[in-house]
Amino acid sequence: MDVDTGTDDAVAIMAAALSPDIELLGITTVNGNCPVEICTENTLRVVDHIGVNVPVYQGCSLPLSATLTPGRKPNIPSIEPSKIHGHYLDLPAASSAKQDVTAAEWLIRTYLESDGDISLVPVGPLTNVAMAIRQAPKILDKIPEIVIMGGGHHVANCTSSAEFNIWVDPEAARVVMNCGRPIRLVTLDATHEALFTMETCDALKEIGTPAAVCAAAFAEVRIAAYDKAQPMGSVGSAPIHDALAVCAIIKPEVVSTVYAHVDVETTGELTDGRTVVDIDRSGDRGRRPANVHVALHADEGLFVEMMLDILSNEM
Ligand code: RIB
Ligand code: CA
Repeated sequence: MDVDTGTDDAVAIMAAALSPDIELLGITTVNGNCPVEICTENTLRVVDHIGVNVPVYQGCSLPLSATLTPGRKPNIPSIEPSKIHGHYLDLPAASSAKQDVTAAEWLIRTYLESDGDISLVPVGPLTNVAMAIRQAPKILDKIPEIVIMGGGHHVANCTSSAEFNIWVDPEAARVVMNCGRPIRLVTLDATHEALFTMETCDALKEIGTPAAVCAAAFAEVRIAAYDKAQPMGSVGSAPIHDALAVCAIIKPEVVSTVYAHVDVETTGELTDGRTVVDIDRSGDRGRRPANVHVALHADEGLFVEMMLDILSNEM
């Protein structure tokens, strides 16, 4: 997994680490919800909290190039903590340490040495993944699938046009969307149909495992923030975006996808970072072959059922 640990990344990491259907080989961190150093500390706090021994590799601290145009992107990671994620997660300071190898180096080494059977699951800006692809294009032969949390077709959350992970580093997202490997894109259209509610939080607290109690606490933070700043259909609910991407690995039927051409806007004044999805392939100008399985809907009942089951596990 490649993460920018924040609150939903944390829930996704716990789901991946505790699911009997996933072998979580490593976690790479990237600048996104927080400065990358904080994302790394948060990731270490999460793995320590559930007692799993998964190596963590720190990655890029800024997008590939998006901060070089004055005024286009914040030139330093968001110093102002977000309401949805804050900065440091409310967990004890990490006792484990990150690895010495950087994220891109580990991704390259791991894929080149692999048998081509390791799924790549980025749930933050795609800077590390694009960096690894540019540094060692041969890894593409060894990546069977990339399951990304990012983008949106009818739904945006960062500007009126873009989703946060793609918006932070549009050039990196463009490199990845056009890399030629099988991609599933779990968009906001889907994640906004797979919500946790206060009842979900109560059920998690009832389960009482370290992961379930932690996920309930983070979900409650998210619900309070979303109710205030980005209300979902029903008050008292919030998406757990990154966890849906993990569940889509375990049970693909938790999302429904369309196979379409997707590319990323990198020069639009108003649409910078938008995932442009050619859904109905209308018109014949610039039609390009489909390259991404775009998840536009989700099965909320199955998602919640899966998460309650997985988070009831403990090491
Ligand atoms: O837009 C949602 C995505 O942005 C999630 O991955 C969240 O963690 C943030 O990174
Ligand atoms: Ca994330």
